Amino acid sequence: MSKLFDETPSREGTYSFKWQKYQGKDILPAWVADTEFRCAQPILDAIQQRVTHGNLGYVLPSQCLPAIDAVCRWLKEKHDWEINADWLVWTPGVVPAFNAVCKAYCKPGDKVLIQTPNYPPLLAAPKLNGLERVDIATVEQDGRFTLDFEQLEREASDPACTLMILCNPMNPVGSVLNADELSKIGDICKQHNVVLCSDEIHCDLILESQHKHLPAGRDASLSHNSVTLMAASKTFNIAGLGASFAIIPDSRLRQSFNQAAAGIVPWVNQLGLVATEAAFTQCDDWHQQQLAYLKENRDLLVERINNIDGLSVTAAPATFLAWVDASKLNVDDVQKWAEERGVGPSPGKDFGAPDHFRINFGCSRQFLTAILDRLSSK
Ligand SMILES: Cc1ncc(COP(=O)(O)O)c(C=O)c1O
Repeated sequence: MSKLFDETPSREGTYSFKWQKYQGKDILPAWVADTEFRCAQPILDAIQQRVTHGNLGYVLPSQCLPAIDAVCRWLKEKHDWEINADWLVWTPGVVPAFNAVCKAYCKPGDKVLIQTPNYPPLLAAPKLNGLERVDIATVEQDGRFTLDFEQLEREASDPACTLMILCNPMNPVGSVLNADELSKIGDICKQHNVVLCSDEIHCDLILESQHKHLPAGRDASLSHNSVTLMAASKTFNIAGLGASFAIIPDSRLRQSFNQAAAGIVPWVNQLGLVATEAAFTQCDDWHQQQLAYLKENRDLLVERINNIDGLSVTAAPATFLAWVDASKLNVDDVQKWAEERGVGPSPGKDFGAPDHFRINFGCSRQFLTAILDRLSSK
């Protein structure tokens, strides 16, 4: 029993994005990527303290030293990356950040490389910014998903390709890029003058100790050619506070990013800063306990899903999201199949793979068991 994760607060009446979709229906929501867990107590205490102070006016994120120091500490200790505080740019979300990147480094009509399947707002970003998306396939090698590097090399050589937006760890497939893969990406980008924007929002959710997250900007081949996007939001379940950050070591790229965001992308709100600071300084134990709990959830899910006729899933080393192959169900609409059984996953078609769905297992064991029982029913 883990009191921290077995007991989750009811979200009824909170207008939760995840729960609103199936309100009034007997369908367990297993889609949006936030967790059902209560935040770590130090985060709640820090927010409470700021609220008790009573003034919630503007704060200047770029001078908020305690939060900046907390990010620097976290990156050094957890990712072996010593950054200069100047490289840090706060953003009110990773989605606005990768859209600002599209504006900053591309001109209308340029091409943007994106692995598919991928997180829907990431797939949407090029078109939203007047750019053309070039899909790079995901391939399975020895039971692990990775990018089609031959295709990447080929497409990157097109002079119209000026940007690649990567998602590492990958959403939805949950792979973590290894050093060889990252340096290959770095070499390809450098050779063809492609800026790399690496969405690493899931980087603190590595469930297997033999896998290590490698931040793009830490790689020598990428340090002057990359924007690395991170946040405490997924790991510490504070996504509703809208706080994330970009690490941009190159001053020229940083200036273009800030120019593209100016007047459109608002500052991070102060409760998000306070929560990020607490998460990155006082919650190491909670973080480890959550990883252990999620790993057990993942193992349970993999075992049970692979016993359901027509479904299969691989044990991904990262994220609290499971990418389920439902192609062997031989039904027209795999999302409908799940919903008819009382489970609401993320529709695979939104990610670019209509014969899959994605299940969020960032929930109590009891809730996950109910999801799996329903999917197992005939
Ligand atoms: C890969 C990825 N990037 C970004 C986000 C959302 O980022 P934010 O809420 O900070 O805009 C998500 C949320 O699911 C995600 O999975």
